[in-house]
Amino acid sequence: MYAKAAKIIKSAKRCVAFTGAGISVESGIPPFRGENGLWNKYDPQIFDIEYFYDHTQHSWQVLRDIFYDLFGKVKPNAAHYALAELEADKMLSAVITQNVDHLHYDAGSKIVHEFHGSLKTVICLKCRAKYKIAQIDLNILPPLCKKCDGILKPDVIFFGEAIPEPAQTNSFNETKKADCFILIGTTGMVAPANLIPSAAKANKAKIIEINPVKSEYTGSVTDIFIEDKAVHAMEKLMEEIDKL
Ligand code: APR
Repeated sequence: MYAKAAKIIKSAKRCVAFTGAGISVESGIPPFRGENGLWNKYDPQIFDIEYFYDHTQHSWQVLRDIFYDLFGKVKPNAAHYALAELEADKMLSAVITQNVDHLHYDAGSKIVHEFHGSLKTVICLKCRAKYKIAQIDLNILPPLCKKCDGILKPDVIFFGEAIPEPAQTNSFNETKKADCFILIGTTGMVAPANLIPSAAKANKAKIIEINPVKSEYTGSVTDIFIEDKAVHAMEKLMEEIDKL
């Protein structure tokens, strides 16, 4: 299974990785669904844009507890680094990620399409000014814009918001050109992100999936299912690729 997947990656003209929360679990960031999932502790409605507008203070408190207190402490893991290495060795063209934790960039990946935005920046709801999160004091919630005193919002996609451009267009364009697609750590339960692997399949890409649990993709688009955690799977895969 690993040897077969390694041959597909090595011989591919254009390989793209598509990642979800599962690739960051071994860095200490809980997933949304499944074992230790955030949705077991928090009501997903907190991540709805209407809730953010109506309960800004509470929404920010939860976001700070879940993500920002972790932020800066969590580091990329071997799976993130393996994808960055494949890109450096010209065996991976891009990463399309649903994650907002910036860990692909931190691991050295250059071409990363953040389909759901990034926690690294915040945006003013009034004047659309953007700030790096490091510039913002999260002891005062909600944080306010330095230019117009408008409320700042994490530059991530809440439920009910449109997917950011150019990430959406770039992601589907990469997918259309891919003849090899590596799915890592995603349930496939959230649209429109979950349309991407199907688009890859429709373009005859070979789909390699890494997940310790079967997902919505496993019985439908996946060609090679590696039932394993991201770190061990990517380490084994890199070993097999090095042998070729
Ligand atoms: N290695 C690989 N995969 C793992 C690991 C691991 N160590 N641990 C868990 N997983 C898998 C789970 O089996 C599951 O399939 O990661 C997936 C996590 O699922 P979700 O939390 O639903 O993550 P994801 O599919 O990325 O969610 C998509 O939903 O809530 C929204 O915007 C949020 O981007 C997120 C989107």
